[in-house]
Order: sequence, then C-alpha cells, then structure tokens
Amino acid sequence: MDFQRLVAERSAKINGSGIRQVFDRVEVLRSQGKKLINLGIGQPDFPVHERIKKAACDAIMADHNGYMPTTGVPLLREKAAVALATETGWDVNLSKDAPAASANLIVTAGTSAAIFLAMQAIVNPGDEVIIPDPYFVLYPYAVSLCGGKAVSCDTYPDFKMTAARVAPLITARTKAVLINSPSNPGGVVLNQKECDELAALCAEKGVLLISDEIYDKFTFAEGLEDGVFPTPCRSPKGGKDVLLIRGYGKTYGVTGWRLGYAAGPRTIVAEMTKLQQYSFVCAPAPLQYGVAEAMNVDMGPTIERYRGRRDIVLKHLAPHTRCSVPHGAFYVFVEVPPRLGQSGRQFHERALEAGVVVIPGGVFSAKDTHFRISYTVGEAELEKASSILAGLMK
Ligand SMILES: Cc1ncc(COP(=O)(O)O)c(C=O)c1O
Repeated sequence: MDFQRLVAERSAKINGSGIRQVFDRVEVLRSQGKKLINLGIGQPDFPVHERIKKAACDAIMADHNGYMPTTGVPLLREKAAVALATETGWDVNLSKDAPAASANLIVTAGTSAAIFLAMQAIVNPGDEVIIPDPYFVLYPYAVSLCGGKAVSCDTYPDFKMTAARVAPLITARTKAVLINSPSNPGGVVLNQKECDELAALCAEKGVLLISDEIYDKFTFAEGLEDGVFPTPCRSPKGGKDVLLIRGYGKTYGVTGWRLGYAAGPRTIVAEMTKLQQYSFVCAPAPLQYGVAEAMNVDMGPTIERYRGRRDIVLKHLAPHTRCSVPHGAFYVFVEVPPRLGQSGRQFHERALEAGVVVIPGGVFSAKDTHFRISYTVGEAELEKASSILAGLMK
C-alpha cells in the first residue's frame, strides 16, 4: 500500500525536531567509538530528590494508578494554587463543588501539552500568534497545526521580546502573544517593567498574553527583582488576564514524567479542559503525587550550581564572540563570530568533529547565525568542552 498517500498534509509538512536529528547523529557517532561531550540536551543532569521519587512510588503502591480528574489531582492543584497565590497574588478557584469547566487551573501532560491545548483552544485557521525568534521548537508548530500563522518577533541580538518589538506585529488577526522568560534558547529573563508593558499592550489590544514560565525556578539571583521572579501575572494592567504556563520537569529533573500546568482566564482554561478530556484525558496519575511532594524541596543550591556553570561557559567564550548573559534556564545562545564566515550548522559540524555536541541556531530560528549550549554536564567536562569551542573561534 502507498502509505505516503495516506499521510495528512499537516503532518507531512512538519520537519522532525532538529534537536532529535542531532541526537540520532550522536548515537551513530558514539556507536562508532567517537567520544563526545554532549552540550545539546535540554534537561538537567542532577538526580531526582529521594523524597520526590518516594512520593511517586508511594502513590503507585497506594493504588493511585487510575484515571484522575481532567484538571489534576486535588493535592497538586491545591499546592499549585498556594504557590500561585504567593508568587503572583492570583486567587485560583479550586472549589470542589464547582464543575471542572469552571476551574481556572489545569494540570497537563508536560508544559508542551499546555501550550498545545492553549493553541487548540484559541486559534482558528488564519489567526495569528506572535512568537519570539529564536523560539522553543514547539511554538511555530503548535500554532500552524491549528491552521494558524506563527508571526515571528525578531529578538536579536539581546533576545528580549519587548512590547516595543511586539506592538508593530499586532494585526486584526492576532489572537495571542506568546512570551518565554527565562527563555529557551537564550536564557534571557524579562524584567518586571518589560512584563508590565507587554501585559498592558495585550490588554489594550484585546489579545491573550501567554507566558511560558517553565524555567521560573531556574532563575539566578541577577534575574530576580528584590528576590522575586518577574512575571506579567503581577502586572497592574492586564496581569489578571494572562494565561500562565509552568512546568515541573526541568525544575525537579523529571522531564520524563510529563507534568506542567496552565492557569488563567476561566473561559480559556475551560476550553482547554474540554480538549484535554478528548485527548490527553489526564496527566500521569501517580507522578502528580510525586511533584506535589517536590514542591517542598528547596532547589536553591542546585540552581546556584548552574549559575557557576554558566560562568564557566562565559569565561571561555565571551572573549571571542558576542554572548548575551543568561540570567536563567541552562542555555547560552552563542553567536558564531561573523569573521569565521560560518553558519550555526557549519560551526556545529566543526564542534562535532572536535568532540563537542552543540545545537545549530537554525533549529530555533529563521536565522542560522548562532548555536545553543546546554550547560547540563559536570564542571570538569564543561571546562574542557568550552575551551574546545573557544579554540574553534580563534
Ligand atoms: C521554553 C520551553 N517551553 C516548554 C518546554 C516543554 O517542556 P515539557 O517537557 O514540560 O513539555 C520546553 C522544553 O524544553 C521549553 O524549553
């Protein structure tokens, strides 16, 4: 049978994730005996805290293995609501008597599912969603799979998606503006004033501001203001209308558990809840108990260690190229020095030959002038890899 004929256009026109393609290549090279330091992986390398693992195992043994409410298990929802009240001032409705459709917080199968459901809930064919460039790889496809158009906001060279950059892109077809702070691949954190300006702009234009804050806990002291994480959720104008998306995978090292949540306008969350009923059904049941316990674990010292790793990368590379200083996440998006005359892909190939895996910038952007480093390996390996990369830039 000609199976290719059966494939839908929406799937056929998508390219497989560029990051996965790099990893497939890494597997082949490693099987041929090539030694590689992998700075490509977008997940932390610390072991999951014993308390978190135990809570998930206990939940399995206590038979929490069946379907759970679509919006999430009450224990996790309550903990998330308390965290939100402290961090954003939001009062999230969790009334047990309220029908699911009146809740404004939904636990999802990873942050990816929250982004997906949000787009499915708001985008009609032809609608526009403004996304950053460079972007997290899912963003353009989450929009285009709904028949929408992802409109790129060029954030080079500092990777800040500011109101001044977004405003000229808003049209009558714009449904939403999607921001990401700290960002992937830049690690850049918006300050509170920048968040406030975006929230006010979206409120004025009647456009939904979606804030992907998956790395909120991965923000270094320099990215905080008076120790507080900047978010548009606290903005005086439009702050209460933000659709907030957060995740647990990166913060607690449980990316494979597939857990995140969305909170915000009841009308939108209700639509996402309906869509979840007919797609993901619910987020993984026992693991929701695991991350509920995770919220009692202090990740501060771990995050501080990543800040030290960021400094190792900058120490080696900043003398040779333009590096915007990341204040969060665990990435640096590095410009290939223009004098080398190489694209991100070409630099990636040279790095691979020299034994270091980085991701070409074109995977995250319409431009291919940069490459992404994930500093998710130990300090000694990171020193070695960074000095190899610096050598290639000389
Ligand atoms: C900015 C951003 N948003 C969302 C995600 C997806 O996270 P999850 O694994 O929770 O689906 C990622 C993962 O790399 C990310 O970097």
